[in-house]
Amino acid sequence: MSSNFSVTPWEVKGKVDYDKLIVQFGTQKITPELKERIKKITGDLDVMLRRDVFFSHRDLDLVIKDYEEGKGFFLYTGRAPSLGMHIGHLIPFIFTKWLQEKFKVNLYIEITDDEKFMRNPELTLDQTRQFAYDNILDIIAVGFDPDRTFIFQDTEYIRNMYPLATKVAKKLTFSEVRATFGLENSSNIGIIFYPALQIVPTMFEKKRCLIPAGIDQDPYWRLQRDIAESLGYYKAAQIQSKFLPPLTGPEGKMSSSNPESAIYLTDDPKTVERKIMKYAFSGGQPTIELHKKYGGNPDIDVSFQWLYMFFEDDDNKIKKIEEDYRSGNMLTGELKQILVDKLNKFLEEHRAKREEAKELVNTFKHEGKLAKEMWNKIHE
Ligand code: TYM
Repeated sequence: MSSNFSVTPWEVKGKVDYDKLIVQFGTQKITPELKERIKKITGDLDVMLRRDVFFSHRDLDLVIKDYEEGKGFFLYTGRAPSLGMHIGHLIPFIFTKWLQEKFKVNLYIEITDDEKFMRNPELTLDQTRQFAYDNILDIIAVGFDPDRTFIFQDTEYIRNMYPLATKVAKKLTFSEVRATFGLENSSNIGIIFYPALQIVPTMFEKKRCLIPAGIDQDPYWRLQRDIAESLGYYKAAQIQSKFLPPLTGPEGKMSSSNPESAIYLTDDPKTVERKIMKYAFSGGQPTIELHKKYGGNPDIDVSFQWLYMFFEDDDNKIKKIEEDYRSGNMLTGELKQILVDKLNKFLEEHRAKREEAKELVNTFKHEGKLAKEMWNKIHE
């Protein structure tokens, strides 16, 4: 299919047409009916579900059915640790927290210090492990249930995963993995094996696994779904999100490769203000007169997009902001200020919770109820 955008686990290029992506990847759109079914159970809908940030799925209907029938399900998500997380990385975790709160289910969070090391020629394993510790603090700060959440690092938990990883790996051929991930003969063999390790946690329980993540991770799940049943497990279900766009324009995704295009969880209030005021791509007109006359375009304005996708969860307020901006009553500077204030409030609270998280690392990795059970379990 020819298109001027591409989405892979490593890169998002161009203006993503999410409807086309659903067709390309063979997933389903989350329909209003499905949202209603969820709302019947949860009472309300998270802002990211209401506004179609989480827009695509596979077997979410079956997950809901399993839940309704008392069979239950579990959640799984993950992170390849890097030097400092940005706001975009937090999106799936915040949404996952909402799901866990509503459904009271187990959650497994894989930290792929191995993947990051093997993919990046410049990084040492010591560095990716340090990043792992650091990123785990940001993840814990999101506020998961310590009794129902297990956070594990591949290089540490590998002994328990390895038997099942060999079974998964034996089902996948090099040519499939090469084609799915665009590998080459010069790729190191660690990367060739790695997909087995991202698939294994989908089989941590003999229940359906629901994976909340950005849609860029989809290739792994396509492989999983080809082989799961032959190993006696369920095909993994997904609930997939769009990307928080980079500050600098509505195309691609916020990514660490361009620091000015991202807001990091460690950015102080002044930095946040400077970045937003200087770089946030604007849908406004070049002069105040023109803006008042013709109005702004929220559809391409990154500050508006961020407010819409996550930071302004009040439906009435976001509607008013949209109308005021479109009509020209609200200027770009005013719109940006709303975002700066929201971001700084969010980051201040996040940093306080991150400090508290230091006391909880051992709970989530080893001593919590689920963590303890998991260390006693060898996955076969
Ligand atoms: P990683 O570390 O690249 O990304 C972690 C999660 O963040 C999502 N994400 C974004 N979401 C919205 N907007 C953005 N700009 C943005 N950038 C990244 C990703 O989709 C992902 O959900 N291989 C994985 C680690 C992993 C994993 C998993 C991820 C292991 N097991 C299970 C999800 C589910 C990785 O490199 O993620």
